[in-house]
Amino acid sequence: MCGITGYIGYRKAYPIVINGLKRLEYRGYDSAGVMMYDGDKIHLSKTKGKVSDLEVITNKEEERKKGNIGMGHTRWATHGVPNDVNSHPHFSQSGDLVIVHNGIIENYDTLRKELISRGYTFKSDTDTEVLVNFIEEIKKQEGCKLGQAVQLALNSVIGAYAISVFDKTKPDEIVIARLGSPIAIGIGKDNSEFFVASDASPFIEFTKDAIYLEDEEMAIIKLGKGIKVRRIHDDALVDAKIQELQMSLDQIEKGGYDHFMLKEIHEQPKAVIDTYRGRMLADKGMVRMSGIDNHMNKFLNADRIIIVACGTSWHAGLVGEYLIEDMARIPVEVEYASEFRYRNPIITSNDVVIAISQSGETADTLAAIKLAKSKGAFVFGICNVVGSSIARETHAGAYTHAGPEIGVASTKAFTTQITVLTLISLKLASKKGTLSKSALRMYLQKMQLIPNKIEELLKIDDKVKEIAAVYKDAPNCLYLGRGFNFPVALEGALKLKEISYIHAEGYPAAEMKHGPIALIDENMPIFVIATNKGHYEKVVSNIQEIKSRAGKIIAIVTEGDTTVKEIADHVIEIPETEEALTPLLTTIPFQLLSYHIAVMLNKNVDQPRNLAKSVTVE
Ligand code: F6R
Repeated sequence: MCGITGYIGYRKAYPIVINGLKRLEYRGYDSAGVMMYDGDKIHLSKTKGKVSDLEVITNKEEERKKGNIGMGHTRWATHGVPNDVNSHPHFSQSGDLVIVHNGIIENYDTLRKELISRGYTFKSDTDTEVLVNFIEEIKKQEGCKLGQAVQLALNSVIGAYAISVFDKTKPDEIVIARLGSPIAIGIGKDNSEFFVASDASPFIEFTKDAIYLEDEEMAIIKLGKGIKVRRIHDDALVDAKIQELQMSLDQIEKGGYDHFMLKEIHEQPKAVIDTYRGRMLADKGMVRMSGIDNHMNKFLNADRIIIVACGTSWHAGLVGEYLIEDMARIPVEVEYASEFRYRNPIITSNDVVIAISQSGETADTLAAIKLAKSKGAFVFGICNVVGSSIARETHAGAYTHAGPEIGVASTKAFTTQITVLTLISLKLASKKGTLSKSALRMYLQKMQLIPNKIEELLKIDDKVKEIAAVYKDAPNCLYLGRGFNFPVALEGALKLKEISYIHAEGYPAAEMKHGPIALIDENMPIFVIATNKGHYEKVVSNIQEIKSRAGKIIAIVTEGDTTVKEIADHVIEIPETEEALTPLLTTIPFQLLSYHIAVMLNKNVDQPRNLAKSVTVE
């Protein structure tokens, strides 16, 4: 939530900051702002709307783009409605300090009242303006430098933050700090320039050397001198490790597709291969995952596995429950991280917790992990973003290796998370002996065919587009599935609502008659997953129940199906595979369908309203 960029060095800061904001816009996009320091004056430009709206303002006046020092912000509003005044950056009262902030200062109201009693006035409704004035007040009271004032202020603050602060009276440095929200520093040659950003994408073409601050750390970045990282609470110096970035520029560009979402849908064959590469030895009938292998006893002796996640990752977790219980016969519970963390759950040291998160930054999932650890549970993470907070907070884990996911609606994250969960299930099953060697080998061989099958499936795009054109104006839709495909129904509905704003619900197909069936009439499109194994006959009965109530049926069936074809209004065929692997295929038509409906409705596919890619606030 919210993206931060910054530059201090010898180049023009404006293009770096503004392009960086465009790359971070997935983190929030209800307002945007930049500050440029031209060696004499600070120029602040900010507006409600997107980075492109901000550019309209900065393009009017070249002055606004001058200087070698700059900071930018793209906002997902927490305190104060999205408007020009509440947009970041924020000035302190004297006009010397400027701040950009990602996170929430929970005790801002108390601080604000205190500052008002000392004569401060506020222009915005934000917690951020309170923080920058609090820093200024401390600086004044203590007669200290910016770094120390930031540190003292943060020690009195309750909440979460990634901040970047600039002081006009000390224009060769930027002070940054983190607690709960990510922030990275890109390092130029011989300390000649530094980049600051919420993730490394804004500076990937300039440097491969980066430091990621840990929670409770701050850095004073001094031009020509270097970076000093300190722990905020006890001032201890930290030996921050410089990491070499693996990300490349083409990974974060659209590569000829109209939208990141479409690109990411089409990247799935490769993403799934990248996820299982080196882990799946199909010819030997073996799965190798160091994160599991090194802690096998924890898994084998666990009373149960608890999966915690949010949104799409939670849906992948549900598929994981079906897979692990079916193959490895270990009890699994799947919890919304936001509920788990606050409902006083029973967790013991005999539990294994699997936390799933694409971004690795989701605040609720992170808090659920911390809670589970405090109760002695072993926590395993499944993340996409390397070095993310969740990857670091967990005892062990497996990366999905899906590559950057920029479209706000998750697609390749879902299929790669399911790939990891399938490998975990197979690994545990082979160790426990709940799957025969031949069954394991068969699954691995079928898994190897999945990327090609996804590739095949992506060719039905035109057919999905035709179906999208028929149902794009429906106000409501139902998604039904059973067994392994019940979570896919939930995910299909989520994809549709988040990017097209059409109300959609996912249900286990048999639950329909316990309520939702009342909604069915000739205007209700119902997307049903009816693959040929598992609960096929049962789903066919559910389809008949819909048909007799005149609902419109769009069915996902296995190639060669004849029964459902006769009943349904439209069918989409998926290639044959094992039932347990079908979620990797059945989800693809739903992703394409949501995409095309959103495009036809002229919605912002990659940046749907009110959403943000990484939800770092609770
Ligand atoms: C939906 C979507 C969200 C995320 C959720 C968790 O398309 O993207 O529902 O899945 O916010 O995010 P991560 O996986 O980053 O923890």
